[in-house]
Amino acid sequence: MSKEYPFIKACWGQPTDYVPVWLMRQAGRYLQQYKDVRAQGGGTFLDLCKDPARAAEVTIQPIDLLNVDAAILFSDILTPIEPMGMALDFVPGPVFEKPIRTAADVDALIVPDDMAQAVPYVPEILKRLRVAFEGRVPLIGFGGAPFTLACYMVEGHGSKDFAALKQMMYADFPLYDALMKKITEMDRRYLNMQIEAGAQAIQIFDTWGGLLAPHDFERYILPYVKELINGLNRDGIPVIYFVKNGGTMLELVKEAGADVVGLDWHVNLGKARDILGPEVAVQGNLDPTVLYAPKPYIEKEVQRILDENAGRPGFIFNLGHGILPTVPPENAIHMVECVHRLSRK
Ligand code: CP3
Repeated sequence: MSKEYPFIKACWGQPTDYVPVWLMRQAGRYLQQYKDVRAQGGGTFLDLCKDPARAAEVTIQPIDLLNVDAAILFSDILTPIEPMGMALDFVPGPVFEKPIRTAADVDALIVPDDMAQAVPYVPEILKRLRVAFEGRVPLIGFGGAPFTLACYMVEGHGSKDFAALKQMMYADFPLYDALMKKITEMDRRYLNMQIEAGAQAIQIFDTWGGLLAPHDFERYILPYVKELINGLNRDGIPVIYFVKNGGTMLELVKEAGADVVGLDWHVNLGKARDILGPEVAVQGNLDPTVLYAPKPYIEKEVQRILDENAGRPGFIFNLGHGILPTVPPENAIHMVECVHRLSRK
């Protein structure tokens, strides 16, 4: 008996009784309950990702606390990079001790045949969550887009411009291409494994895709993302592609072939929908810092975005990027309540 989830219907562009909403990074440090579970046993963030019982628990927390319409697997985009042979640490930002710089480094990267075996905790968390939710909310699986994963693998840590990867891209395209092909194939296997384990939608995070000019996006990002999305076992599983700062190249973002395009707050949602057309759904796009505003201000901003959407089907409300760690949870709760109430009118 498959339930008609508003979130899934909206992904397919179908009308819903109200606009479904969830928040990127909805499980995390802004919740005391997350910090409590994180502190249990005194382990690291990666230990939490690898502990199915606690990871499932923090995935469920925002469903109970915020009343959001979808759950997202608790993990990180970089966890599947570890079994490629790269030691990973979070301090709290991600750090790869030995970044990828040479052809030998790329050659040495492993693309595991069996991702369920490579990261066994991920399918285990998904299976536990499907049982825990029993049809209450749909479960989103996710991965990083190949370019965003490559940013961290080549730079070794966070950066403003990820110049090391961009240098490789411009100076040694065959090396860049070999790296991107390996990441894309790992990603394809990883996301298909999540679908098999019970993920009911997939979000691909391209947090750094907007670092490239549109013509570079077309050349250095689009072929790999297209290949990835094409290679997913998508039957009944909507795919969301979120490119931070992708608003100036929406036609190209659409070409990747996802069912839903994620938008950040640098674009007007209505204008973005005009460009994208009715064939794709959209998700977004409240500036995450608006959750620091007084409650009436948050309500006005929610109404503004609903007005920009103008009742078009195929709309999922979200932030334009992840929720910030110091946001008062009551403001996130208020935002979700406003989306539900105001969109029912
Ligand atoms: O959305 C969710 O609730 C699911 C969990 C999730 C995490 N990371 C948990 C996390 C998701 C979807 C991600 C994606 C992710 N991770 C992205 C893409 C989306 C984005 O935010 O741009 C990126 C670029 C990363 C890499 C990463 N992981 C960074 C840069 C950091 C450090 C900065 C930060 O936000 O803390 C992380 C750590 C991380 N990933 C934490 C969490 C809850 C914090 C770890 C802790 O508990 O201290």
